[in-house]
Amino acid sequence: MSEVRSLFEKPAKALPRMSFEEARTKSATCTLCRLKDSRTNVVFGEGSEKSLVMFIGEGPGEVEDQTGRPFVGPAGQKLTEILESAGIKREEVYICNMVKCRPPGNRVPQKDEVEACWPYLQTQIQHIKPKIIVALGNVPAQYLLKTTDGITKIRGQFFKWKDGIEIYPMFHPSYLLRNPSKEKGSPKYLAWQDILQLKKRMDEFRNV
Ligand code: URA
Repeated sequence: MSEVRSLFEKPAKALPRMSFEEARTKSATCTLCRLKDSRTNVVFGEGSEKSLVMFIGEGPGEVEDQTGRPFVGPAGQKLTEILESAGIKREEVYICNMVKCRPPGNRVPQKDEVEACWPYLQTQIQHIKPKIIVALGNVPAQYLLKTTDGITKIRGQFFKWKDGIEIYPMFHPSYLLRNPSKEKGSPKYLAWQDILQLKKRMDEFRNV
């Protein structure tokens, strides 16, 4: 794994440093990338701002774009189900995405879109100060860890990142919807192991 970017690096020139509330307000009318043209709502993020854990997905899907809330469509229902299976309440974690606006047709967000949106995400991370960031799928995992390794290789491991934060890549819930087998070794089977391991790590942090 190559060296990771500093969380406290200078933000992109386009946006000076900002508070969490400024990030929310500015993102609501953001025009920094082409995703502004097709969005209905900006999906900033939601959940506990005191959470030990932040879940970061790729970008809003159709239902998220309509409602302005992250992970509330089919992938969101799967995420909630995975959390609950390990005894983690959705409200106790913070959930957001690499890009705050829906990529047309749910395509993967492009690198320049992720870069344009980074100052918002950076501000969210600085404000919440999570101990663990769960990177859902290749886009957040590869961007945050600066790696080209795929999610199948890096999932289920805690990587030391910046400022004492650990990055924990997991399969994206949409991938689990497309691969419903629960057989031993299947993505779903591995995801259930990964969430239990995450819960264990959360409990360790709580007990120190
Ligand atoms: N997929 C994502 O990556 N994020 C969402 O908010 C919904 C679906």
